[in-house]
Amino acid sequence: MASETHDRPDTTEGPVLEVTGLRKVFEGRHGAQTVAVAGADFTLSAGECLAVVGESGSGKSTLARSVLRLIEPTAGSVVYRGTDLVGLDKRALRRTRRHLQMIFQDPYASLHPRQTVYRLISEPWRVHRDLMPDRPRDRVAELLDQVGMPASAIDAHPAQLSGGQRQRVSIARALGLKPDVLVLDEPVSALDVSIQAQVITLLMELQQELGLSYLFISHDLALVRLVATRVAVMYRGEFVEFGPTSEIFERPQAEYTRALLSASPALAEFGSGA
Ligand SMILES: Nc1ncnc2c1ncn2[C@@H]1O[C@H](COP(=O)(O)OP(=O)(O)O)[C@@H](O)[C@H]1O
Ligand SMILES: [Mg+2]
Repeated sequence: MASETHDRPDTTEGPVLEVTGLRKVFEGRHGAQTVAVAGADFTLSAGECLAVVGESGSGKSTLARSVLRLIEPTAGSVVYRGTDLVGLDKRALRRTRRHLQMIFQDPYASLHPRQTVYRLISEPWRVHRDLMPDRPRDRVAELLDQVGMPASAIDAHPAQLSGGQRQRVSIARALGLKPDVLVLDEPVSALDVSIQAQVITLLMELQQELGLSYLFISHDLALVRLVATRVAVMYRGEFVEFGPTSEIFERPQAEYTRALLSASPALAEFGSGA
């Protein structure tokens, strides 16, 4: 499996992604403002899984979307291997962004219901023509295999698939663009608990095989402890704590992090047990 090389540009050394002063302010009515992301600084190294945790409303999704410029950041820069995404024109952005793919929480919402799995996975190649394989159908079957789906799913519609299978299809679609960064916004939160572990296992295997870097957004601390190399704790748009996973969990400094940890029953067990 996965023997093909991901032809990522490797002209620059250092982090894959360097985010500096990233800020997003939503303008409401009557001059009301929501500072959803107050100015985030972080780097993402090759092959690492950086998790962003925080309760609902803390700005995680806004951060993820701003990084990929799915929404326009108010300020800051997002440098991907030497290229600042902020300030690129539409065409250049599209070209660069294929290296950074987003996986959303709800695959049902992100997969067009009328399209077949084949169409869903092959569609991005019409935009990124240089990636169009010689035999797109064979390549789609290969991608399905890579995400643990049977080749027979190729003509199915999203409604015929389970939640876990739909998420596998979104992952296959992203992989079809040979990305090296995946931004995963609560990728398993919408799935049954029994299915969550399977999809997480797949994501971890793919990360290993393909050398992917993950920006992994989650409110599930037990999960984050399992998958992340480093953790940023977000509260009201700010990182209140940032460090290696073991440090955050064993020696949380910020009061908010401690509160977050003590509010997670699964983690309390984690801490007391093995
Ligand atoms: N499109 C939007 N317009 C206005 N406010 C928004 C928008 N999207 C998010 N927000 C606000 O920004 C804050 C952070 O939201 P979000 O990034 O979705 O948090 P999280 O993903 O951590 O739950 C919240 O106060 C939310 O209401
Ligand atoms: Mg969110």
